[in-house]
Amino acid sequence: MRIVSGIQPTGNLHLGNYLGAIRNWVRMQDEVAATGGQCYFFLADLHAISMPHDPAELKANTREMAAALLACGVDPAKSVLFNQAQVPAHAELQWLLNGTARMGWLNRMTQFKDKSGKNREGASVALFTYPVLQAADVLLYQATHVPVGEDQKQHLELARDIAQKFNNDFGPVQPDGTQTPVFTLPEPFIPPEAARIMSFRDGTAKMSKSDPSEMSRINLSDDPDMVMKKVKKAKSDAEPLPSDPADLAERPEAKNLVAIFGAMTGRSVEDVLGEFGGEGFGKFKPALGEILVEALRPISARFVELKQDTPELDRLLATGAARARDAAAKTLAATYEALGLLR
Ligand code: TYM
Repeated sequence: MRIVSGIQPTGNLHLGNYLGAIRNWVRMQDEVAATGGQCYFFLADLHAISMPHDPAELKANTREMAAALLACGVDPAKSVLFNQAQVPAHAELQWLLNGTARMGWLNRMTQFKDKSGKNREGASVALFTYPVLQAADVLLYQATHVPVGEDQKQHLELARDIAQKFNNDFGPVQPDGTQTPVFTLPEPFIPPEAARIMSFRDGTAKMSKSDPSEMSRINLSDDPDMVMKKVKKAKSDAEPLPSDPADLAERPEAKNLVAIFGAMTGRSVEDVLGEFGGEGFGKFKPALGEILVEALRPISARFVELKQDTPELDRLLATGAARARDAAAKTLAATYEALGLLR
């Protein structure tokens, strides 16, 4: 198994990132090490320049996000942890794949539509070709599994389409007539219980770093008072919780809070409602707040400590990048060769 995944170093790591992706990174790194596989986790700083940004902030955020991942349990002794900008093969492979990706495929990407909004003409070209870089990220390491939240599923499908077309068009043909694939087709790994964690202000919008309201999300660096305050102020409704999960269907905010409770405690929604069915949010919210406070306390304590040691963070990222460059070299060379590029 080869596990590859990334996160943009923009703003804070929030509960959606953690439950949708990072927690699985940490779980997988132990399983994978035991079976002789390898995990590659990176800060997608090259993706971050697809939106307007401040260079000094990007630099600070890249180190902070590295500290946040380490605080969550990503272990550089087990996994290769780095930032894309130190591994030029990502940008190189993107260019090589631009010849295979189709305009029509990119035109269907919902993230571009969402992020460019009404100002399509003013969007950066990078925002449009963003999913090709993401395909390069995973194909470069021959990823078999990519742990992500549901919002990245469409990008992963595109990566598979690109890999398949490239293998078909350019996979070297052997003397016996069979074709050798250049790229492995990656599978998304999406946790069913936390595929899409929703905003605390609007149960129909995903929890996101780009929401201007801080109250819409729990950040992993929030202190206990802030966590409790955000949970207590989270949008809910006036009804008591139901006993049957089906009765949450039309109650997006209630459904989200129950899902978070379940994901944090490893309990099913049925089980959580078995305990809280018939109770109002006056009882449920403090219980959820307690669970979050206790789970986040050690993470935010480690984060505060780690983020202060900039030289150590830089050293860790440089070491990870050197390993990533080595791992990427083979696929990159095979891609140039398959395309007939003389080097
Ligand atoms: P990013 O930085 O937006 O998010 C990082 C990870 O967190 C997941 N996530 C969520 N999961 C559940 N509920 C939510 N509300 C929620 N919000 C975010 C995301 O699905 C993601 O797994 N394009 C990617 C970064 C990237 C990448 C890659 C990922 C670049 N190259 C290659 C995988 C493989 C992004 O912007 O994620």
